[in-house]
Amino acid sequence: MTNKIRWGILGPGKISRSFAIGLLEAEGAEIVAVGSRDRRRAAAFAGEFGVRNAYGSYEEMLADPAVDAVYIGTPHAFHHDQTLLCLRAGKHVLCEKALALNADQAARMIAAARETGLVLMEAMWTRFLPAMVRVRELVATGAIGEVRSVTADFGFRAKFDPASRLFDPALGGGALLDIGIYPLNLAFMICGEPVAIQTQANLGATGVDEESVTLLRHEDGRLSALSCSFRADTPREAHIQGTEGRITICCPWWKATRIIVQPREGKPDTMDLPARGGGYSHEAAAFMDLIRSGVPESDVMPLDESLAIMRTMDEIRARWGMKYPGE
Ligand SMILES: NC(=O)c1ccc[n+]([C@@H]2O[C@H](COP(=O)([O-])OP(=O)(O)OC[C@H]3O[C@@H](n4cnc5c(N)ncnc54)[C@H](OP(=O)(O)O)[C@@H]3O)[C@@H](O)[C@H]2O)c1
Repeated sequence: MTNKIRWGILGPGKISRSFAIGLLEAEGAEIVAVGSRDRRRAAAFAGEFGVRNAYGSYEEMLADPAVDAVYIGTPHAFHHDQTLLCLRAGKHVLCEKALALNADQAARMIAAARETGLVLMEAMWTRFLPAMVRVRELVATGAIGEVRSVTADFGFRAKFDPASRLFDPALGGGALLDIGIYPLNLAFMICGEPVAIQTQANLGATGVDEESVTLLRHEDGRLSALSCSFRADTPREAHIQGTEGRITICCPWWKATRIIVQPREGKPDTMDLPARGGGYSHEAAAFMDLIRSGVPESDVMPLDESLAIMRTMDEIRARWGMKYPGE
């Protein structure tokens, strides 16, 4: 394999466009192919990004030997089957969040990746932002003392459309998998896997969660208070509270470029940490580094943690009595 990583884009929709812009700003990346169920959609994407090969099916794209790695940018319900398809074709996979619909699916995807030795990573881009790298460093070096709690929200008012991927259960709709996964991911990053869960949600007309609040207890009694909503705009800030101070991750925190460290005593320290490529270059660069160095799993977004997050979301949905078709 050359030093340049040659990408195929599977599902040229909204996020694939944003990711492609980020990818082209990351060093050593080339988009060589795009696959869509609709050849015209693939051709339009190829025209927009100067991609050589546009395919009218995913299978055709995966048969292209020029493709080293595939970015999957489709709704949640398809991540499992499409990841297995890519791995069987010998391609590394960067799969959009949520990694799957549920933990069973995620476990099968991870097992398949481990069998092949190919790289699989959940595209949780937020973890790779320079601002988040700094947050982890600050927490690890005790800048705010012992962490006691995390509060985070992600909410916006979405136009109700029962056919859209946000609301259609057959596409893996619901706020938790789409946006609630960000606050949950932050809680995992700072406090680890929860040991106890309390949660409340309002399900909507299509049967998926449209807003929820979740409280988690972690080891050593650390707490997180997390919320997400398709019904209302929320402050979109995250806070990490410690015994010696707190960190604010400024709005919108999941694509943070500014954090404020407020010690218990003394002045706040505001840090500006710009991101490249709309925020998507950093995860792409980290993923390509894994391929180049022959390391199949990220230690920034580990597969075991993606799986534990899926398990927690399964448990949260179980408390609400919410199932996806086929579960
Ligand atoms: N990282 C981020 O910042 C971010 C932001 C938004 C969304 N996301 C994630 O990205 C993924 C896709 O979101 P999106 O908003 O980009 O989706 P989208 O534009 O609605 O769809 C993307 C592609 O998925 C396929 N698709 C859509 N609806 C389908 C259906 N009913 N049946 C089969 N395939 C379908 C299509 O591929 P074809 O062209 O092949 O038909 C489409 O081009 C989700 O996992 C979401 O959580 C991430």
